Amino acid sequence: MNISVVGTGYVGLVTGVALSHIGHTVTCIDIDEMKVEKMRQGISPIFEPGLEELMVENTEAGRLFFTTDHLKGFSKAEVVYIAVGTPEKEDGSANLMYIEQVVKDIAAHVDHDLIVVVKSTVPVGTNHYVKELLDDQVREGVRIDVVSNPEFLREGSSVYDTFNGDRIVIGADHSEAADVIEEINKPFGVPVFKTDIKSAEMIKYASNAFLATKISFINEIANICGKLGADVESVANGMGMDKRIGSMFLNAGIGYGGSCFPKDTKALTQIAANIDHDFELLKSVIKVNNNQQAFMMNQAKERFGELAGKQAAVLGLAFKPNTDDMREAASIVLCEQLLNQGVAVKAYDPVAMDTARKVIPEDVQFVSSPEEALKEADFVFIVTEWQEIQEIPLASYIKWMKTPVLFDGRNCYALKEVRKHSIEYHSIGRQPVL
Ligand code: UGA
Repeated sequence: MNISVVGTGYVGLVTGVALSHIGHTVTCIDIDEMKVEKMRQGISPIFEPGLEELMVENTEAGRLFFTTDHLKGFSKAEVVYIAVGTPEKEDGSANLMYIEQVVKDIAAHVDHDLIVVVKSTVPVGTNHYVKELLDDQVREGVRIDVVSNPEFLREGSSVYDTFNGDRIVIGADHSEAADVIEEINKPFGVPVFKTDIKSAEMIKYASNAFLATKISFINEIANICGKLGADVESVANGMGMDKRIGSMFLNAGIGYGGSCFPKDTKALTQIAANIDHDFELLKSVIKVNNNQQAFMMNQAKERFGELAGKQAAVLGLAFKPNTDDMREAASIVLCEQLLNQGVAVKAYDPVAMDTARKVIPEDVQFVSSPEEALKEADFVFIVTEWQEIQEIPLASYIKWMKTPVLFDGRNCYALKEVRKHSIEYHSIGRQPVL
C-alpha cells in the first residue's frame, strides 16, 4: 500500500522503515529539513541497532522516501500514520499541539479518502478528538477513518521488536478500517488484537504503567533486601519462576528513565485526576522512582561523609543501553548532585556522548574511554549497563582508580566474582563487598 508517516522520531522512523521493508511504499514526512536531508543520504538521525542498514536498503529499493513537503507526502497516501511527539505539559498531561498541526496539514493537503492511524501515545479520547477535527477541517466529500495503533517498541531494540512483537493493538470504530491496518501489518507475523478505540488508547498507558510498577516494586524490595541481608537477584529469580509474575522487568536498579515511562505514568495520573480519580498506586510508583535515582548518591554520602574535593567516574550516561537517548536519564540527576557536592566528575558513554553534552552540566568532563574516566578516581558510579561497561575487568578498577570503590546502580557484576578482588563494591539490594 501507499503509506505516509508523519514524524521521524524513534517511533515514526522505525515504523516507516519497517513498513517499507515488508513491501509497502512509504513516505516519511518531517518538518526538520536537515534531518530529512540526512535520511536521504542514508544517515539515521538516531542510534538504533540495525535501523540505518534497513533504511538504506529500502531507500535503494525505491520503497522508502523522505520529504518535508506535506503535499508530496500525502498525495498518493492511502494511509497516514501520525507519529509525532506528545511532550509533557507542566501539569504532567500530554501536549497535543503537534498532533493538531498534523491534522491541519492533512486537512489542507488531502482530497481523497484516507485512514489516519495514530501511533503517538495519546490520552483516552484523543483519537475521537482527531476524528472530529478532521471531519471539521477536511474538504467536502472526503471520508477519514481514524485508527488507534499504539506502539510497544523498546528503544535500543525497536527494529527487533517490530518483527518479533508480542501483539499489534488496533482500535477502530469501523471493522473495515481495522481490517486494512491488520492487512498492512500481516507480513510482520505478529498477533493482532482488535478492540475499540478508547480501549486501545488505554492499553498503551496501562501497559507502561504496569511495567513501571513492576520496576518500582522490585526496587522497593531491593531496598528492603539490602537492609535485611537478603539478595534481590535471588529474590527476583525465585519470584519470576511463578508464571503469573514472570521474570522480566524485575531487575532492580536506580530506577526507570527514558521518554516513555516517566511521561506516561504522569500522564495517566493526570488522565485519572481529570475524572476525579486519585490513582494513588501509580503516584507511589513515580515517587519511589524519583527516590531511587538518588540511591547511589546516598550510598556515597554514607560511605565517605564529605564528598567535596573527591574525583568521581560516571560510567554510562544514556537512560539504558543500546541507545543515545538521554531523556530522563538518571545520569543527569547524579551528575548534578555530584557537582553540587563539590565532586570533580569524568563521564563516559559508548554512544550517548553527543546527546549527553546537551543536557549534562558543562562542568562534567567528558572522556573517550572507561580508562580515562576511572584514572585516579576516588569512586565510580556505574549508571548504564552497556555491555562494554559490564565487560570491564574487575582488575582494571584496581589498576586505574586511586581507590577502587564501586557504586553499581545496575548490578553489573556477580558478587562471587567481586569477592575475588580487593574491591569495595556497593550495589542495589545486595550485600556490600568490603
Ligand atoms: C518502554 C516500553 O518497554 C515499550 O514497550 C514502550 O513501547 C515504550 O516504553 C514506549 O512507550 O514508547 P523503553 O522506554 O524504550 O520502552 O525502555 P525499557 O526497556 O522499557 O526500559 C525503560 C526503563 O526501565 C529503563 O530506564 C530501564 O533501565 C528501566 N528498567 C527496565 C529497569 O530499571 N528494570 C527493569 O527490569 C527493566
